[in-house]
Amino acid sequence: MELKGKIALVTGASKGIGKATAELLGNSGCNVIVNYASDQNGADEVVSVLEELGVQAVAIQADISNKSDVESMFSEIKKQFGTLDVLINNAGIFDMNDSPESLEAFENVFKVNFLAQVMVTNEAVKLMKTGKIVFLSSVHGMIGHGRPDAIAYSAMKAGLDSYMKNLAKHLAPDILVNSISPGKTLTPMWGEMDDKTKNEMAQDHLTERWIMPEEIADGILFLLKNDSVCGEILTVDGGMALKTLG
Ligand SMILES: NC(=O)c1ccc[n+]([C@@H]2O[C@H](COP(=O)([O-])OP(=O)(O)OC[C@H]3O[C@@H](n4cnc5c(N)ncnc54)[C@H](OP(=O)(O)O)[C@@H]3O)[C@@H](O)[C@H]2O)c1
Repeated sequence: MELKGKIALVTGASKGIGKATAELLGNSGCNVIVNYASDQNGADEVVSVLEELGVQAVAIQADISNKSDVESMFSEIKKQFGTLDVLINNAGIFDMNDSPESLEAFENVFKVNFLAQVMVTNEAVKLMKTGKIVFLSSVHGMIGHGRPDAIAYSAMKAGLDSYMKNLAKHLAPDILVNSISPGKTLTPMWGEMDDKTKNEMAQDHLTERWIMPEEIADGILFLLKNDSVCGEILTVDGGMALKTLG
């Protein structure tokens, strides 16, 4: 797909992977809607970068787990752009209380990372005649031996993979749907870390370093440009899945 002049919505684009993706899409000639939840400064900075690249950009605040926020965001998109070609379902959270016993963490994680994506996707599809949708999965959705302190997060990402594949079948050939599955990517999601922890966690990858958000954005760009990948999960994990299986 030629990206120049296309309209793209990136959810959670005020920082991290969403920010890197929004900026790469702008570099490829897309006009970008920069969704954010609370970080208006971050979103405004991304909009400035995009405007300097010569594309149209707008920041829209919307908690994607809130139905009326999502509806308002899409009526604004309809008013300003009239259509949508690309949806990057990126916004997400990690709940620090994630554990096998915490029903609250399960509810929170599934509400913000899963049901919200379904809500956003359903609204987006109403504006998309053709185009591409990409979900942010995680290598934790497919690592079979699990990580109990990320049990809700892992179950949610595994569920998202199944949802993505069913949706791909439902929307093809007009809209192609895929996921990208990152390993540990250096973004604000990980919070503050001392150097020792950061270095130890880098070793979870065969590449022995953290993945950069721009490397995930690069994978997303591939999924958008290529018109024969459909219902696929592109793993960009520095060999983490292989390493943890050993
Ligand atoms: N980082 C990793 O290692 C990693 C690995 C695998 C998968 N992923 C996935 O990649 C995606 C992005 O992660 P990241 O690391 O870039 O996260 P991040 O740095 O924490 O950024 C999260 C973004 O999502 C937005 N957001 C959170 N809740 C929202 C809501 N309810 N409504 C709208 N926006 C919301 C935030 O907006 P505000 O800042 O404005 O509140 C922010 O822009 C997530 O789906 C995550 O699960 C990340």
